[in-house]
Amino acid sequence: MEKNYKRTLITTALPYANGPVHIGHLAGVYVPADIYARYLRANGKEVLLVGGSDEHGVPITIKARKEGVTPQDIVDRYHTIIKNSMEELGISFDVYSRTTSAIHSDTASEFFSRLYANGKFIEKTSMQPYDEQAGEFLADRYVVGTCPHCGSDRAYGDQCEACGTSLNATDLINPHSALTSAPVTLRQTSHWYLPLNDYQDALSKWILEGHKEWKTNVYGQCKSWLDMGLQPRAVSRDLNWGVPVPVEGAEGKVLYVWFDAPIGYISNTKEILPDTWEQWWKSSESRIINFIGKDNIVFHCIVFPAMLMAYGDGYQLPDNVPANEFLNLEGDKISTSRNWAVWLHEYLVDFPGKQDVLRYVLTANAPETKDNDFTWSDFQARNNNELVAILGNFVNRAMVLTHKYFQGTVPAPGTLEPIDEALFAEILDIKQRVSEKLDTFHFRDALKDAMDM
Ligand code: MF3
Ligand code: ZN
Repeated sequence: MEKNYKRTLITTALPYANGPVHIGHLAGVYVPADIYARYLRANGKEVLLVGGSDEHGVPITIKARKEGVTPQDIVDRYHTIIKNSMEELGISFDVYSRTTSAIHSDTASEFFSRLYANGKFIEKTSMQPYDEQAGEFLADRYVVGTCPHCGSDRAYGDQCEACGTSLNATDLINPHSALTSAPVTLRQTSHWYLPLNDYQDALSKWILEGHKEWKTNVYGQCKSWLDMGLQPRAVSRDLNWGVPVPVEGAEGKVLYVWFDAPIGYISNTKEILPDTWEQWWKSSESRIINFIGKDNIVFHCIVFPAMLMAYGDGYQLPDNVPANEFLNLEGDKISTSRNWAVWLHEYLVDFPGKQDVLRYVLTANAPETKDNDFTWSDFQARNNNELVAILGNFVNRAMVLTHKYFQGTVPAPGTLEPIDEALFAEILDIKQRVSEKLDTFHFRDALKDAMDM
């Protein structure tokens, strides 16, 4: 039996502000989260829908270098585009902020300081990729090379996007610098690590025993991480863009973007509710739902929960982490760097007033259990055959007949005949089926049931 919660805090993965958002982001995260928020609100539930831009990390600094502008220029530009376009699409955020805000750096900094003071980190010296030509350490995506798993020659120092494997820069074959193309050398540096292995048992119990109801893709990824055995993970980087590590002598080091970004959910809640934000995060009467894409699963189900456990102080763990698979475009992987995408801000210009068509198509074809393909011919067919022919026709007929027979006013119901009772029963039954699907994050099936009505 589901517990009856007082309020639901819904978070949406914070998109990197290194480009506008595209239909993949929308289908995977923002449209389903918005459906869920609107559904709960329509049922009189207390809801907070939290979003914001992820403005730190290497994707931003790489983009800035490419264009010869500052990282701040980049995030200012894309934060504005993203925020405005999501608003125009109708994503009903209660707050959409950014991780370069003062409240966020204070919150993230305090979070790190408390873990540091309580001895939750280990400090380790290691050899890290370095670019002799540029005279800089090469964090994460600054290293490119060949993936040892699938052979893709576009793998990054933190992940291979072709096969999804999470990597260390030293795993790559023929690693070179994304800055200068120079071959990577190694240099000694020291960083703080969160020993995830200390949380292995607690995380296993919480997820593998306590959350069997999570989507199979999410549960399965968590299980395989846990089965492999968790390792300490660095939470700082040698970079000049990010939240400075609040420790004496740590000049030139910033918090790893995946350390500060999820804390953004907390900072953004604080920003909008400075007096009552803790009710949403620290009360067992509240529940937290994180909407994300599948590449974010480990950070939301393992790393951030371990951070919250380490912090303590009543922070609740998420109740569910509905992660979607990916949406492709015309048979090819969507890519910001290759400019292969349908960009939301461009769609809004090209199809004025057609927000609902996009929301409908992305939900009807949502990549909930497997990767799916968006094609313009499917978009057109669904618009014409489903929205116009079925829904449009139904609404039109109801209007025309109401005008023709009842002077445009819906008449008060008379005594119900058995045939009316039967119709009501059927509608209630469909409503029930739709609700069950919405409650378990199967939005695509819910929409299908509703349309079959
Ligand atoms: N910026 C990340 C991405 O696009 C998501 C960050 S989610 C957060 O993959 F939790 F860290 F905020
Ligand atoms: Zn690979």
